[in-house]
Amino acid sequence: WRRRSRHFLRRDNAVAGLTETPTVGQPLWLLAELTYQCPLHCVFCYNPTQHARIQDEMSTAQWVDVMQQARKLGAAQLGFSGGEPLLRDDLEELVQEAHRLGYYTNLITSGVGLTPTRAQKLKDAGLDHVQLSFQDSTKELNDFLSHTKTFELKQRVARLIKQHDWPMVMNCVLHRHNLPHVGKIIEMAVALEAEYLELANTQYYGWAWINRDHLMPTREELQEAEAVVNRFRAEQEGKTGPRTRVLFVVPDYFEERPKACMNGWGAVFLSIAPDGLAMPCHNARDLPGLQLPNVKDTSIAEIWQRSNAFNAFRGDSWMKAPCRTCDERHKDFGGCRCQAFLITGDATEADPVCSKSPHHEKVVQLVKQAPTRRSIPIVFRSDAESRLLHAEPSA
Ligand code: FES
Repeated sequence: WRRRSRHFLRRDNAVAGLTETPTVGQPLWLLAELTYQCPLHCVFCYNPTQHARIQDEMSTAQWVDVMQQARKLGAAQLGFSGGEPLLRDDLEELVQEAHRLGYYTNLITSGVGLTPTRAQKLKDAGLDHVQLSFQDSTKELNDFLSHTKTFELKQRVARLIKQHDWPMVMNCVLHRHNLPHVGKIIEMAVALEAEYLELANTQYYGWAWINRDHLMPTREELQEAEAVVNRFRAEQEGKTGPRTRVLFVVPDYFEERPKACMNGWGAVFLSIAPDGLAMPCHNARDLPGLQLPNVKDTSIAEIWQRSNAFNAFRGDSWMKAPCRTCDERHKDFGGCRCQAFLITGDATEADPVCSKSPHHEKVVQLVKQAPTRRSIPIVFRSDAESRLLHAEPSA
């Protein structure tokens, strides 16, 4: 992946919110968030909590235009996501166009809506890969956390995916409720013949940020789960034939150094929201003062190369101490901007997950205090809750 460590913004040429930056890589990974609508109500959903206020979903023609422009700029991987992308009845048409353009396409789905008929249509359209989410290995917890009766449906969908010869990533978000079930979750993934099982410990954005006290595990719970994963990996070594590879994504809050979020801001990742907002990461809508551009009125090339939002945290000229002089700044790029904002109130701060951050103690306290704060109600993602959380103040 090509990435320059320093970008020179020619601010003297700035016009109407745009600046010039001559040295920018390619948006290799395009995430098309087709809709924020979703039949599930997951308590850890990373979608913006204001999703119910976001209207004006883009049309088929607008999405096709986005895919064409991004492909010309070098995008090669295309994820169809949401919300639930299967709620769009033009999904097959979009997949077909993406396939014609030469993208490697991935459907990121809860499974709801993937009927045998639609699966065949998506296969015919050229869909390459499917990522199916589960909430747990038990019906009870799966259905509780998603506030739906979807466990058995997901099992049927997993079989359908294999019948159509798609490589399957099974994704399960981990937290204190299902960490003790990791062994069973792995067994389920093996039984359903998933090529990959992504055990993604909850990252605290969107609805997960609101519910963090309910989701936060202890360090011991994490270590036990990781030991189960390592035992499974050791048993797999040397085995021949089809195998399930397990990815265990460690939660930031228990680390001493931050992740290189998005592989660097505006480096390779381009996310387009249902209303056409273009973002360097799917949580950027919540960062204040970014002036995110919209593909409905600005070309992808202009957005990617010259918009203030995409240039805001490229390179290292924006960094404060301790990142500015840190010898790891070109490895982790200062960590996650959204996490820095959520925890410190300032997106230009070092990610407080880093032990060098003056705000690191806030992360330590968030972990420590979680068990004492579980009397607050858990909030299931829903349109009603979204409206409640973002109600306009009455005059
Ligand atoms: Fe937005 Fe990390 S999630 S920069």
